[in-house]
Amino acid sequence: MDLEALNKVARAMVAPGKGILAADESSGTIKKRFDAIGVESTEDNRRDYREMMFRTAAAMQNNISGVILYDETIWQNAKDGTPLVKIIEAAGSIPGIKVDEGTQAIPGYPGELITVGLDKLAARLAKYYEQGARFAKWRAVIDISSGIPTSYAIAANCQALARYAALCQAAQIVPIVEPEVLMDGDHDIDRCYDVTKATLIKLYQELYDARVALEGTVLKPNMVIAGKKCPKQASTAEIAEKTVKLFKQTVPVAVPGIAFLSGGQSDEQATANLDAMNKLGGLPWGLTFSYGRALQAAPQKAWSGKAENVTAGQKAFAHRALMNGLASKGEWTAAAEKAA
Ligand code: 13P
Repeated sequence: MDLEALNKVARAMVAPGKGILAADESSGTIKKRFDAIGVESTEDNRRDYREMMFRTAAAMQNNISGVILYDETIWQNAKDGTPLVKIIEAAGSIPGIKVDEGTQAIPGYPGELITVGLDKLAARLAKYYEQGARFAKWRAVIDISSGIPTSYAIAANCQALARYAALCQAAQIVPIVEPEVLMDGDHDIDRCYDVTKATLIKLYQELYDARVALEGTVLKPNMVIAGKKCPKQASTAEIAEKTVKLFKQTVPVAVPGIAFLSGGQSDEQATANLDAMNKLGGLPWGLTFSYGRALQAAPQKAWSGKAENVTAGQKAFAHRALMNGLASKGEWTAAAEKAA
């Protein structure tokens, strides 16, 4: 393992002004997104849609440090035959790959899930590296509800994340370590704080035990935020303050960067929250975005599956990428948002 090279990639992923485009929706998830805009989820439509984003020069060159791809996409060619991976690389962005194989129920633990995909992962990683992937992603899902999460489910998921991360580094691939505490419930922000804290403490313990070099990793967490169904929603200031406070307690300074998931926040909320954290200043790690929905909802709507809307889709994508790029430096303003 060349740790210096891994660290270089990890730092590039969280460079100021830049963040990650999570375009790794599984076939099931992208179908849901396409259903919402009335587009059939065919292989060609998925290709056309993703090609539209990867060819948005301004966004890809200035604000998107890396793209998380789904297995189908990493092997796909653009309409003119150019491999999509080459288009990403030509823009100076780094191709990455989602390598987990989704979740399964944990027997004996109703409502709790474990992420699977460790078997044969070493061989898959070697093929992805050959194809150009320099980082990977594995998402663990921790749900909050009455009586869950259990410490068993947190531990099992964190151990899997650590085993995945060690395999990635052995394959010279930077692991994005993603323990997502869901914001789907009716819990308040303090419950999210407690569950996220327990998860991050366990995660870093497991990463140490697995002998993962933290300098060659990126953390992809949820923000500390109230559940969507909670009647008491927290302000941007409270989300920023509690998220940064928790990370200072739990995320070692050796970690080059933290790239948030958006998790169901609105586009502008995800941007404003990231911006507020960076405005606090004095942070020991890069703090940026690795958004799926909060980067793609607007371009999806603008595109709506029509070739004549590609320019409008690219404009919408470039705008969200720029707004989040500004937020990664604490330089976003509501006025910049409206200027579009
Ligand atoms: P969202 O930003 O839509 O939560 O997706 C990010 C992601 O990659 C989840 O694994």
